[in-house]
Amino acid sequence: MPDLSVNFAGIKSPNPFWLASAPPTNSGYQVMKAFDAGWGGAVWKTLGIPIVNVSSRYGALNYRDTRMMGFNNIELISDRPLKDNLREIEEVKKHFPNHAVVASLMVQSREEWHQIVKDVENAGADGVELNFGCPHGMCERGMGSAVGQEPNVLKTIVSWVKEVSKKPVIVKLTPNITDITEPAIAARLGGADAISLINTIQSLVGVDLDNFVTYPAVDGKSTNGGYCGPAVKPIALNMVKNCAQEQGVNLPISGIGGIENWRDAVEFILLGATNVQVCTAVMHYGFGIIREMIPGLERYMADKGFNHINEMVGKALPNIKTWENLNLNYKVIAEINKKKCIECQLCYIACEDGAHQAIGLPKGNGQRVPFIIEENCVGCNLCSLVCPVEGCITMVRKDDGSKVETWHDRTEKGNIPTTFNDQLAGGTHHWIPEPLDALKHKKSNRD
Ligand SMILES: Cc1cc2nc3c(=O)[nH]c(=O)nc-3n(C[C@H](O)[C@H](O)[C@H](O)COP(=O)(O)O)c2cc1C
Ligand code: SF4
Ligand code: SF4
Repeated sequence: MPDLSVNFAGIKSPNPFWLASAPPTNSGYQVMKAFDAGWGGAVWKTLGIPIVNVSSRYGALNYRDTRMMGFNNIELISDRPLKDNLREIEEVKKHFPNHAVVASLMVQSREEWHQIVKDVENAGADGVELNFGCPHGMCERGMGSAVGQEPNVLKTIVSWVKEVSKKPVIVKLTPNITDITEPAIAARLGGADAISLINTIQSLVGVDLDNFVTYPAVDGKSTNGGYCGPAVKPIALNMVKNCAQEQGVNLPISGIGGIENWRDAVEFILLGATNVQVCTAVMHYGFGIIREMIPGLERYMADKGFNHINEMVGKALPNIKTWENLNLNYKVIAEINKKKCIECQLCYIACEDGAHQAIGLPKGNGQRVPFIIEENCVGCNLCSLVCPVEGCITMVRKDDGSKVETWHDRTEKGNIPTTFNDQLAGGTHHWIPEPLDALKHKKSNRD
């Protein structure tokens, strides 16, 4: 059986699944319940000078039948007194000494940082996570993402924390920045032991068309909030990959953003994360989702021959190149499996109006299964993504794999388009209808 235990920058946990700092880690009651269900660690709801929250606080993006595909909040840090949280951290650690309890922190002055770091470490926290990510409310007070967006300030605060901390220091980064590696490098220069990302993305989740206010509304007014949930996973994966590939960062990474199941977690690990944190999925479905995550990960590791999480970390990174290093001679085209086709013709309209007019419709005989016009297919994938039947449209390789040539190679050989009407342009290789062909159908209807 594979070993799921993780040592994240010196913080040990029985598995890589941690709860992110958020409502599910607001109290000892919840963290205790989560550990009992199987979670390996928890980052406590951010502690600081307690705040006062508004009501309501959450908004969601529902997509078709999917509730909360994206989730948005205008909640701040913990509204509970520090002493209550410290007592509960101590109690949780007493019952679960081998689980990871990390205290998320956000204060302002050097003195406050020194005091709160000592307090949570004395209470038994295994490490601290510095919340430099919250994109609403706290940033107006000079904290949260206001720090995460200023690498020099971030570095200074990390160094204040390192003056007193005896346990590992994780820096939680905001995605509300052009280049995530800048604050990540600053975290390392300040002395951080690890980074975690992403916190929420600044957003407006929708507008109430009747009352002219964005969601969530507070007495007829609203404000921008932080976006998370499944919708943000691609952004989080890219940022994790950027940090993992940047030599100047060179820190363990805790991956966060849209993780709902073991597959999502594995994706983060393959892109360089050592462990993962989950918030929205637990707010949606409860702590019980861990019961599927652990055996799922174990099965995957056993199938692939991984004995330990470390063997998987960053496994996909060598295959992520810059665009100029992709093989321009690799050619795939779409193929339709007639037996699976349900004749919906969604592929036809997608390619006809949204891609390259490479799908035709049969004429007469009651036939409705579309066909691929091979010479026009550029292998873009669109039809296979649109097709509602799994495995009905597949992309089939047409080159023999003998010649690999990248844009970089072609540039070196001077074999690239350099004038506006260059015959080396990629689009000269397939047929494009004349503009007036678009109106032929209309004309024949009128005639
Ligand atoms: C309601 C809510 C409150 C949150 N509060 C905090 C917080 O106090 N500290 C923090 O570092 N992150 C906070 N977060 C951000 C989460 O920890 C996490 O970074 C983010 O939600 C992305 O993960 P997810 O897609 O799994 O939700 C909060 C998120 C939500 C939805
Ligand atoms: S989208 Fe798929 S199922 Fe629908 S017509 Fe095209 S190939 Fe057939
Ligand atoms: S792969 Fe792209 S170009 Fe080819 S048939 Fe499908 S949608 Fe059209």
